[in-house]
Amino acid sequence: MTVTIDEPIELFRSWLKEAEDAEPINPNAMTLATVDAEGRPSARMVLLKDVDEKGFVFYTNLASRKADDLGVNLNAALCFYWKTLAKQVRVEGAVAPVSDVEADEYFASRAKLSQLGAWASKQSQPLEGRMALEKRVARYTAKFNIGTVPRPEFWSGFRIAPIRIEFWKEEAFRLHDRTVYLRDGEGWTTEKLYP
Ligand SMILES: Cc1cc2nc3c(=O)[nH]c(=O)nc-3n(C[C@H](O)[C@H](O)[C@H](O)COP(=O)(O)O)c2cc1C
Repeated sequence: MTVTIDEPIELFRSWLKEAEDAEPINPNAMTLATVDAEGRPSARMVLLKDVDEKGFVFYTNLASRKADDLGVNLNAALCFYWKTLAKQVRVEGAVAPVSDVEADEYFASRAKLSQLGAWASKQSQPLEGRMALEKRVARYTAKFNIGTVPRPEFWSGFRIAPIRIEFWKEEAFRLHDRTVYLRDGEGWTTEKLYP
């Protein structure tokens, strides 16, 4: 069955809204899976910061392990699981960087301490000890003491343009309900899958 461009995104939004009402912490948390140059996958949690027909956006350090992976292989997967809803959403697609304007806007909306944390963290690099991190936080706190904190060049966002989105809902006796949407030109086709 072919459906409109916004159907799976609208459905995702309605599930996320349910999760926001039900989950006590980070309903926008998602597992991000990437693949390195040797074809080895790795996964970690990140926070969804925007979603629309163009895709799913998260922000990170551009020198991190995940960003290195995405530099050699644009393909990524996301997985949401909301325990309180017994629902899972899986997303697959290729990433593209968000625009500088978009990243600047989001960075400006963050708490100042989070902005300073972004400057201080050499994410995914070896850390000699907690003191080294605290020294860097102090250094950037002093540097940006007055006025706004600019976005570091090494910190931005990625958007995963989905080509496959699967909605999973727990049902009795493990006869779960699975609906998959596959990107098809300007729209989507959808079908049910055995659990
Ligand atoms: C709930 C949760 C949310 C997180 N959100 C982010 C995020 O939005 N961006 C990010 O860079 N790291 C986030 N992290 C930290 C990552 O899981 C990970 O430790 C970090 O990004 C380094 O990953 P990497 O070395 O694979 O690049 C989050 C961790 C948790 C547990």
